[in-house]
Amino acid sequence: MGFLHAEWEVVSGEYSSVSGEPRKPKPIPRPREKETRLIELRGGLTKPTYILREFSDDASTLRFVSRDVPLTDEDYKPENLMRIAGDNINEAGRVWYLRGDAHVALGELAQAFSREFQTPLVVISGYRSAAYQRQLWARENYCTETLCALPGRSEHQLWLAIDVFDATNEHDFIANRNYQRYVAWFQANAHLYGWHQSYQKWVEVDGYMVEPWHWRYVWVDMATRLHNLGWTYTEYVEFQNWLIQYW
Ligand code: DAL
Ligand code: ZN
Repeated sequence: MGFLHAEWEVVSGEYSSVSGEPRKPKPIPRPREKETRLIELRGGLTKPTYILREFSDDASTLRFVSRDVPLTDEDYKPENLMRIAGDNINEAGRVWYLRGDAHVALGELAQAFSREFQTPLVVISGYRSAAYQRQLWARENYCTETLCALPGRSEHQLWLAIDVFDATNEHDFIANRNYQRYVAWFQANAHLYGWHQSYQKWVEVDGYMVEPWHWRYVWVDMATRLHNLGWTYTEYVEFQNWLIQYW
């Protein structure tokens, strides 16, 4: 399974070098901590499953959340917040925040975007608290379960997700050719800066409708791996959890 995740290679000794050079020890992979959790399935059922800590600790920058997988603490709020602002960013008249790691990566992404399109990157959403998400749900005729995450289930609550451009529905994207150019550029380049389009394959895969504006920070290694596999983060995490459970 090395092509999927080098850390899954089980290595006990040494390997031969084809060129005849001395045999070199391969690095021993670090153990990946796992724990058992109850995962909620759609329809209110639950099932116990293994899950890797890097995906399940609320404070982990690789924390996975979805419609089915909530944060442990529904009101979780990480530290190290930073205001989203910069020469290449337009906050659309609002004030948004991100975690420090993602903040630096957003600056680099925005710089490359601005160089390409000669316009700042419009960021219309960043960190959203559980309370904010509750307010979204309280708006009349606004949220549906395939558009808005419930409190405790949004990547925005991790301080690792942004909504970009200034369109948040399919119609805007179809009506404006610039958005299509921006999205195509993001899909080709955003992984180089650590960003991943979370919802790109429709409800059956990720639980939400396609959102070309919603990008989540997962670090460059993971974003590049997902890009090369053509997988969403949901597919990747589910596969990793399946591996440790059954393999
Ligand atoms: N629109 C995404 C799913 C969210 O509310 O986090
Ligand atoms: Zn979003």
